[in-house]
Amino acid sequence: MPESLLELRGVSKNFGGVAALHEVDFDLKAGEIHGLVGENGAGKSTLMKIIAGVHTAYEGRMHLVGRPVSFRSARDAREAGIGMVHQELSVVPTLTVAENVFLGSQPLTRIGTIDWARMQNEAARHLASLGIDADPAALLGSLPLGLQQLIEIARVLFSGARIIILDEPTSALSPPEIERLFSLLRRLCEAGRSIIFISHFLDDILAISNSVTVFRNGRHVATEAVGSIDKAWLIENMIGRDHEDLAQSYVKPIMLASRPEAPVLLETKELGHAGSFQDVSLAVRAGEVLGIYGFLGSGQLELARSLFGKMRAERGTVRIGGRRVRLGTTSRARRAGLAFVPESRRSMLFAHEPVYKNVSISILQHIARVLLRPAAERVIAGARIKELDIRPPRATLPLGALSGGNQQKVALAKWLTRKPKVLILSEPTRGMDVGAKEDVVRIVRRLRDEGIGIIVVSTEPETILSLADRILVMKKGVIAREFASEAVGKNELLAAA
Ligand SMILES: Nc1ncnc2c1ncn2[C@@H]1O[C@H](COP(=O)(O)OP(=O)(O)O)[C@@H](O)[C@H]1O
Ligand SMILES: [Mg+2]
Repeated sequence: MPESLLELRGVSKNFGGVAALHEVDFDLKAGEIHGLVGENGAGKSTLMKIIAGVHTAYEGRMHLVGRPVSFRSARDAREAGIGMVHQELSVVPTLTVAENVFLGSQPLTRIGTIDWARMQNEAARHLASLGIDADPAALLGSLPLGLQQLIEIARVLFSGARIIILDEPTSALSPPEIERLFSLLRRLCEAGRSIIFISHFLDDILAISNSVTVFRNGRHVATEAVGSIDKAWLIENMIGRDHEDLAQSYVKPIMLASRPEAPVLLETKELGHAGSFQDVSLAVRAGEVLGIYGFLGSGQLELARSLFGKMRAERGTVRIGGRRVRLGTTSRARRAGLAFVPESRRSMLFAHEPVYKNVSISILQHIARVLLRPAAERVIAGARIKELDIRPPRATLPLGALSGGNQQKVALAKWLTRKPKVLILSEPTRGMDVGAKEDVVRIVRRLRDEGIGIIVVSTEPETILSLADRILVMKKGVIAREFASEAVGKNELLAAA
């Protein structure tokens, strides 16, 4: 057994009294690619930030090549040879490729100005040595996202990193870009560097890693060599069997109730948008909730945006009520009978305006045309507030004073008044407490039972399982699987994604 390059023992980390990591052990060997998996919130990023010197207050010990280390900053960690590519890229789109490679360490001429010629030459040489084909003089922002990511990795390597941490790097990459990333990672390992690779894409993890560690609820669950495990093993360890509330966790499959006889309200054929989703053919029926599940970057959020005309699909057709429509702008989508509640509700709602205005905003045009009467608005809103149990039940309160869950109820409430044909919900219960989630489920069911076709897109299995009558799973931009009239749980969803 080769000795560990990096060794962590008994690492715990709290955020304001909440444990993100609980006595975690972790080992990285020289020259290995170590996959790290776990559900959202399992503590993966937190541990990586400890290794990379971003979080400096924690319990436990860290050894690097057998010596105890205690980083006081990310710079300390960099100097010790540890580089991290964060989930959000930190390269600068408005600078050139060469400037990004050198970020923070530009070579200077004798008179103290930046030595552009040298920078370009060295960047070109560095990129060529990594097999990255990019013009050093090009503006980074003009390059495809996948290439930008490779350049961020190049930057981390250029700063001398021997240990490279990649936190969910594949979520925005297309299959050829992922192949390119993987061949770069393999070459780096052959050259003696070590890599920690975090991803939700378990097939990717199994394809690239030598060994895999699973985290669950801030704890280290298992570490195994890739040859001795499979995807089912990973999922089982990620989800666990020790849930206190089985119904809530959806470990136990639920039965889907599809409605194949109801009329189709919205239908797409081979809808596509380069880099986001391809060949999406789906139908939503009256009175059904179609759940579209996928990991972040699988294309379902973009699909939802393009159905509502926030993004223009490049290929394919959309029919609403049997009639072909050209979407592409939100006003056209709305005229065609679609409604959309986006993942960030801030953009839809007016936080400083009172609750009653937010409830009636979509019918405001209608009211204004007839007669502009705040009193009428307030009457409608008052009824909704009561119906939906919006708390506190005061129509005149600014919306911003309500909790996220209650704001979401307000966002849904207005569609009870002005019934769309199809309602598209993106991440409808993200970040909510259990009570607010149940309220949202109730409202969505009610809208459904009134005959509205509902599309719910989410990266959370629980959200999809609690709402959907039928489920499509998207994987890297395409529909990978449909679940209808059958039993499905978290396990099956994760395995299909
Ligand atoms: N800066 C922070 N402040 C407060 N809580 C945090 C912070 N970073 C992470 N957490 C919490 O710690 C837990 C683990 O988060 P994280 O390490 O990001 O998980 P993962 O990367 O596995 O999804 C989560 O419950 C998260 O909400
Ligand atoms: Mg993370």
